[in-house]
Amino acid sequence: MNEAAARAKASPKAAGREIQNAPGGDEMPILRFLTCGSVDDGKSTLIGRLLYDCQLIHEDTLESLSNESRHFGTTGGDLDLALLVDGLQAEREQGITIDVAYRYFSTPRRKFIVADTPGHEQYTRNMATGASRCDLAIILVDARKGVVTQTRRHSCIAHLLGIEHVVVAINKMDLIGFDAGSFVEIEKDYREFAAELGIPNVTAIPLSALTGDNVSTRSENTPWYEGPTLLEKLEAVDVSGATATSPLRMPVQWVCRPDLDFRGYAGTLASGTVSPGDHIVALPSARTSTVTRIVTSDGDLELASAGDAVMLTLADEIDISRGDIICLKNDRAEVADQFAADIVWMSERPLLKGRPYILRCGQQSTICQISDIRHKINVENLDHIASRQLELNDIGLCNLSVSKPIVFDQYQDNRATGGFILIDRLTNETVGAGMIRYSLRRAHNVHWQAVDIHKQARSTQKHQRACCIWFTGLSGSGKSTIANVLEKRLYAQGRHTYLLDGDNVRHGLNRDLGFTDADRVENIRRVTEVARLMVDAGLITLVSFISPFRAERRFARERFEGEEFLELYVDTPIEICESRDAKGLYAKARAGEIKNFTGISSPYEAPESAELIIKGGSKSPEELADSIVEFLVEQKIIDEI
Ligand code: ADX
Repeated sequence: MNEAAARAKASPKAAGREIQNAPGGDEMPILRFLTCGSVDDGKSTLIGRLLYDCQLIHEDTLESLSNESRHFGTTGGDLDLALLVDGLQAEREQGITIDVAYRYFSTPRRKFIVADTPGHEQYTRNMATGASRCDLAIILVDARKGVVTQTRRHSCIAHLLGIEHVVVAINKMDLIGFDAGSFVEIEKDYREFAAELGIPNVTAIPLSALTGDNVSTRSENTPWYEGPTLLEKLEAVDVSGATATSPLRMPVQWVCRPDLDFRGYAGTLASGTVSPGDHIVALPSARTSTVTRIVTSDGDLELASAGDAVMLTLADEIDISRGDIICLKNDRAEVADQFAADIVWMSERPLLKGRPYILRCGQQSTICQISDIRHKINVENLDHIASRQLELNDIGLCNLSVSKPIVFDQYQDNRATGGFILIDRLTNETVGAGMIRYSLRRAHNVHWQAVDIHKQARSTQKHQRACCIWFTGLSGSGKSTIANVLEKRLYAQGRHTYLLDGDNVRHGLNRDLGFTDADRVENIRRVTEVARLMVDAGLITLVSFISPFRAERRFARERFEGEEFLELYVDTPIEICESRDAKGLYAKARAGEIKNFTGISSPYEAPESAELIIKGGSKSPEELADSIVEFLVEQKIIDEI
């Protein structure tokens, strides 16, 4: 079978790919696009107009639309096409929130999928969600207003998301009398900005979504305009090739083993092609083999390409699991645990350097931390701004480190394997979208050095079980006092210990940190790593830090093995802490002299599953320390004293 025949066989069923044969016999791939702009820019009207002109609106819908237009419309009794789209939007807002709605329509030349993203709040989030699969963005500009911040922001995101084709729809031309001069001026403005961004293909079209000028029919009102109508442009734009010519990437969805004789790896090709006989490598394990068959429900294929859902069998029994990515042996994706990426932040709660998030890249999922926010982008002028956190709708270039290496490509080479989302571990919401730029060289050049004297040996020599006893609680709760007594007890028993105290560590290692959320996250990250080294050294390590956030305490816990980490919550009511006020800090905080004071102007998130809760203020520090000793004996950390 020749390649074309195989491709034709491969595509329709197995692939679910949608190919439209144009009358001339040219294959026009389906065009996915999105419209950006706020409701006022006429986004809904434009989508409505496209659907209407392509005769996609049923008679009964049209009838109710004309009724509604008379009642609610803003077009003086004429059909208000915006109602068509906005009506759905309202439905969406009342029901379950779907951030992006996809609409399908077609002309004799091509099929289209338009991602409709609600325009107002959360636009960055919605746009990022919609745009990641689109080839073209229509950026709406109100002809009366010209290029505004929103235009720039949308273009910036579209560009980051790898959209190479932008149509600047200069809308409401009817309201400025189809003035050529204004159009030329806006087009020039936009092109300057787009050139700075590096958007390769820009087409500006003067139109009116309301009256239909230059949407699907050429307008008589713009004799000076020689370019295509919007629909002509959408029908003609060439977006072919990208995924088919990229190297093979097939994330393994599941491993099929019905009996001992058959082992198949099922998945959908994210990009590239594969044939029997191809030498492949499975990443991250880097095991290699040769493809023997491409199995589908319609029989075997000679060639599978991007979008095809297939099952591969291999010449060798190699260990591949769900989430691995199959590549051609000599054109493989990268594997790294540190990389730089552009991040679009989508949450009300800012992105904090050092806080662990879940990173999901295709089927792969791992814990990640932002090790550095290199800069934020000012979407007005593309300036780089130094920043310690990213707020809602911010876009920034960050360094990330993940707890296990992931397989990826640079986003600009492959959107399917270069994009990821970040998920908040406590709320489970998607808080960011990322586009990988490159792996960090240091990740390639720094390797774990195996040593012969290990943690176990060091602990055994000291006749103890090394562990981290983590005290958390408000300032003045008694953490440090109790930890101090406990350390004395352990020391007297001949144990090898160290007490890491918040105030003390802030005098040295962490002297550059203050009390903002971002600084506290970093404070805890650093002390966690220090405590980890101390446990590795075989010490019973006491940590006494307010550590007010659950996310960081959870991170700390996860940096230790099994039962090495014991969280002790010194639960002292704030009234008692405040009445003690040994350092006079509560008084200052109440007087507004100290900002971000825990319990007063900065939150304390009490532990949900501490190993031990100590009621501070209920007994003397000595008695409380004794109860901890008992607990440690129970836990078999130490023997009976
Ligand atoms: S943490 O929140 O980042 O874990 P850490 O335990 O290191 O705090 O430091 C807390 C100590 O710093 C307190 O015991 C108190 O002495 C002092 N301190 C100074 N300013 C503040 C503040 N704004 N909030 C809490 N503690 C503060």
